[in-house]
Amino acid sequence: MDHAAQPDAGRVIDAVVDHYAGQGLLGAIEAAIIESGKSPETVTVDELGPVDEFHIGGPVATAELCARLNLGRGAAVLDIGCGIGGTARFLAATTGCSVTGIDISPAFVAVARTLTAWTGLDDRVRYEVASALDLPFEDASFEVATQLHVGMNIADKAALFVEVSRVVAPGGRFGLYDIMQVSPGEHGFPVPWAGDATSSFLGEVAEYRRGLEAAGFEIVTIRDRRAFASAVFASLGAARGAPAPLGLQLILGPQAPEKIANMVAALDAGVLAPVEIVCHKPVR
Ligand SMILES: C[S@@+](CC[C@H](N)C(=O)[O-])C[C@H]1O[C@@H](n2cnc3c(N)ncnc32)[C@H](O)[C@@H]1O
Repeated sequence: MDHAAQPDAGRVIDAVVDHYAGQGLLGAIEAAIIESGKSPETVTVDELGPVDEFHIGGPVATAELCARLNLGRGAAVLDIGCGIGGTARFLAATTGCSVTGIDISPAFVAVARTLTAWTGLDDRVRYEVASALDLPFEDASFEVATQLHVGMNIADKAALFVEVSRVVAPGGRFGLYDIMQVSPGEHGFPVPWAGDATSSFLGEVAEYRRGLEAAGFEIVTIRDRRAFASAVFASLGAARGAPAPLGLQLILGPQAPEKIANMVAALDAGVLAPVEIVCHKPVR
């Protein structure tokens, strides 16, 4: 998007916070944990995976991205737009790194903190309410940054990547997994990331590449994950009966069926697809 044509930032943030308001979400998750025969005191990161990883493919997609990030034990990681914290907990639990999650939605950050306490990871995973465009951290604070399904809410990708590059140390990596516009065409609303066009800004792969390179990153891999996404939705469609109690329907809310249907229709039409990009911040 042209810098001169940026939408009103305050209006976008209000729309994003409103969309991800998470009304009653913690209570719904707690009830679903109990309905599944588990308890908040003993629930594990794996058991929360179906509800707390709010992106196509959930923990499977996170694990694939994680494998490309050279994450070592004790590494400092920033998860941008962390939602209710599933990715942050997954990364900490599987690699031993320390994760800071930031998100613009106060309701999601509150749920993230409670779920992290329930899973006993609060010594290594913390959260702050903050904007991805104005990160409250010193330069070069993190060895790795991640961003899963967040760029669709941010118009100015160039400014976003300048800010991410500022906080990633030289030699570090940035891995993102966003839904992108992969051919011309429209999609209906609502979709999982927005109720209308006010806070929806699908970028093209070329825009991401330009923004990342201008911010000082070198691209390592770009993977179009459309086939993976189609397989995920095909297997969900094949499942019979009511969804399991712990699932993304809790976070998507009452409009879950319309949100998913609009996204899947555009995915099937080849208009959008999740794309994973891994990049490296060179030591200069
Ligand atoms: C679809 S959810 C994905 C959440 C999480 N990354 C995950 O995969 O489970 C998008 C998240 O991005 C957050 N977000 C959107 N715009 C943001 C911004 N400018 N700064 C920080 N967070 C933002 C939203 O509040 C929401 O939690």
